[in-house]
Amino acid sequence: MNNSLSQRGQTASQSVLRIDFEAYFEAVKNLYHKTGNPKGTFPLNVAENKLSWAILKARIEQLESQNPIPNWVANYTNSTGAPSFRDKVASFYSQFLTGCEIHPEHLALSAGSTSVIDLTSWILGEPGDVAVFPAPCYPVYRQDIQNKSGLERYDLITHHHIEDIKNGPLLSINHLDKALKDIKNQGKRFRILVITNPDNPTGGMYSESKLNEFANWCISHNIHMIVNEIYGLSLINTQHPELKDDYPTPVTFYSFANIMQQKQSEYLHHWYALSKDFGASGFRVGMVYSLNKTFIEAYNNLNAPSMVSNYTQWMFELVLSDDAFVEKYIHTNQQLLTENYLVVVRQLKKLKIPYAPAQGSLFVWLDLSEFLKENTQTLETELWTALYKQTGILLTPGNGFGHTKHGQFRLVHSCFVKDDLEVSMQRFSQFVENKRKY
Ligand SMILES: Cc1ncc(COP(=O)(O)O)c(C=O)c1O
Repeated sequence: MNNSLSQRGQTASQSVLRIDFEAYFEAVKNLYHKTGNPKGTFPLNVAENKLSWAILKARIEQLESQNPIPNWVANYTNSTGAPSFRDKVASFYSQFLTGCEIHPEHLALSAGSTSVIDLTSWILGEPGDVAVFPAPCYPVYRQDIQNKSGLERYDLITHHHIEDIKNGPLLSINHLDKALKDIKNQGKRFRILVITNPDNPTGGMYSESKLNEFANWCISHNIHMIVNEIYGLSLINTQHPELKDDYPTPVTFYSFANIMQQKQSEYLHHWYALSKDFGASGFRVGMVYSLNKTFIEAYNNLNAPSMVSNYTQWMFELVLSDDAFVEKYIHTNQQLLTENYLVVVRQLKKLKIPYAPAQGSLFVWLDLSEFLKENTQTLETELWTALYKQTGILLTPGNGFGHTKHGQFRLVHSCFVKDDLEVSMQRFSQFVENKRKY
């Protein structure tokens, strides 16, 4: 105990952001390199897209050399985002992400999606209110909604076996009714439903009609619904000849912004960031879109500690101004993601390891529970550690995703270029085959 801190400061000093970060920072000191470090590690646990950075980097370097830095970059600006950048983000949304007209006054920008989630929770919920997430779900939402805002996370279980989600997410109105009843019985308030589309970790996608149903249900219960489209442009080519059998009923990505505009409700909101689709997590550019005017006003008054640097806003204004570049970038990025995704699922198919077919995202959610004698957290952690120690491959442990079945892991396929990923999958196969033998 350190009494120089507040109570909450002391709690924070004991609460790690991610249980796999320590192993991650150890692993990155010894990264695999084909010639320089062929025995090195493969950290495949952090959701970073490294496949298209070379393209974006070259473009940024070119733009930096061609454009003098404008003076406004050195000054304060509007706390929801520099006006010219917000305009550009709105037109980028309209043209590439949402397919509907977006007005910049409905947007607010913060330093990454994490800040957006943190501040949105603070504005919409009271401490002790509950935010509901269909499980399995991105672990760090828990900290983002709780650390400052004091909201609680409720993991809504829709299935136990990974095979059950082979045709996409199962969330239904029945599940929502059940969660509402359960939360009420605990004397708490169901305040927010968060859908990640495409999903983290399963890569599943929600159809237009499902999103519509959920929006109607939320509005009728005065519950906020937020759709996080942070992977909205990271789509897998489900028509690829080697993949298409995995998708008997493929869903087309449909941006929630369209539904928000049809319904004009103060209960509907949308999150996005450049972190994943643009492989730019370090630049810290996140956005919230909402037609709730009071929400945006509150956001404007609270966002000063989390604003995006003006230099970054200026640079991405230039990047997003070149429609031809953006279009080509998105296309190439999707091709690279599909190729890497294939490297992983090809091996999983060979090994007969169950996985959830992804329609988007940077992930493969896979099931290694055949190696657990019992469905326990301890055995899952042992398996996770053994895989890392024996192969150098670090997956995201299932622990924290809020699901009932242990032995499931998330593999981020966009951390290494294709040839290197192939090497990691060979090591993975060896591990599985050895384990099956003994
Ligand atoms: C669903 C989801 N939301 C938010 C984040 C955080 O993104 P950012 O780096 O923009 O804060 C992540 C990162 O993995 C994510 O997967």
